[in-house]
Amino acid sequence: MNNFEFKNPTKIIFGKDTIKKLKEEIPTDAKVLLLYGGGSIKKNGIYNQVKTALANFDVIEFGGISANPEYETLLEALKVIKVQNITYLLAVGGGSVIDGTKFLSAAALYTGNEPWHILSNGVRTEKGMPFGTVLTLPATGSEMNSGAVITRKETKEKLAMGGSGLFPQFSILDPEVVKSIPKRQLANGLTDAFTHVLEQYMTYSVDAKLQDRFAESILQTLIEIAPTILKAEFDYKAASNFMWSCTMALNGLIQKGVPTDWAIHAIGHELTALYGIDHARTLAIITESHYKYNFEAKKEKLAQYGERVWNINEGSIDEKANAAIEKTTAFFKSLGINTKLSDYINDYEGTAEEIAKRFTNRGWLGLGEHQSLSPEKVKQVVKMAY
Ligand code: NZQ
Ligand code: ZN
Repeated sequence: MNNFEFKNPTKIIFGKDTIKKLKEEIPTDAKVLLLYGGGSIKKNGIYNQVKTALANFDVIEFGGISANPEYETLLEALKVIKVQNITYLLAVGGGSVIDGTKFLSAAALYTGNEPWHILSNGVRTEKGMPFGTVLTLPATGSEMNSGAVITRKETKEKLAMGGSGLFPQFSILDPEVVKSIPKRQLANGLTDAFTHVLEQYMTYSVDAKLQDRFAESILQTLIEIAPTILKAEFDYKAASNFMWSCTMALNGLIQKGVPTDWAIHAIGHELTALYGIDHARTLAIITESHYKYNFEAKKEKLAQYGERVWNINEGSIDEKANAAIEKTTAFFKSLGINTKLSDYINDYEGTAEEIAKRFTNRGWLGLGEHQSLSPEKVKQVVKMAY
């Protein structure tokens, strides 16, 4: 196992009927900015639960943070924070609202003159404005990590940011929220969490036995509950396993002591930035070609995943590894997620060159666990995903 340090300060409040506990977590003298998305919380009762819990607090609201949160919208929220002397942020939403709130947490205390530099210059935030979250969509793990991804529409850029100051102080995870999530977003959540685990596992062995088994157990749980989650009727037990699996997939624990890849995400973000394809779907587009292109470097781990997660016990390492890739694609398809770029857009020619050019311009000369996936190789991976 590799050396590591691990600290995750986010308090998790998990379970049925827990949104009311909000009032115990926010300082009573805080001036709160409640941030939310396109309005789903007003239809499913979450907004009312939050407002009831905050009845005795000084609260201002800012709604309209879209999926793939946009810098332009967040600058409007930043104005509200400054004008209203806000001291505490509360995100009520999925990954997009939480990520937008993390940007605001950083930008509120940022002393530079152009907040975009937090993203473009890779500024790490050691101290942000305090914030908490009420998670409404299991998927990203943003509720228990310190990263965020923000989009700038005018330049079609989607860039990551983070820092030890950007963990939520608390996150409320009430699995009942899953009841109102549309099937498309449920499938996205399952796919995103599944790929988060793959990115921290499908590299090479460092004999980190416990980390490997943590990762495999999250994958097995997601596979087991997926059919129940996608059924029309709500199932609390499956929803609670879904929610906790998504959080555990990206709260930092399973990546400690092991090499990580993250090339699928880096390429996927470009597909969202260029074409607006849902985050999770971009991952499903890239996964198969990434593993096929990097087969030699990853085949031992692919075969282990095939054996332990998919019960593939016959054949050589190469055969098991190939079968594991096929099983992964079939799993995404079973969720209703297409796995080729041409399933989403007609005009895909030139995408590979454009992404390779963007990575070169940013100085990203080698992605992946060996930092060896050059822009030229990225181009081949993307072409294989057409
Ligand atoms: O905006 P509203 O009206 O709330 O509707 C949302 C949105 O349309 C809806 N929704 C959320 N909870 C619901 C609900 N609808 C009904 N009932 C509920 N309970 O779902 C739609 C999608 O929401 P969004 O927050 O965009 O989804 P998700 O959680 O998948 O977040 C995606 C964003 O997170 C980033 C992605 O790149 C993308 O921008 N990621 C963040 C990560 C992180 N911070 O660690 C890691 C991920 O890899 C990812 O990159
Ligand atoms: Zn993701």
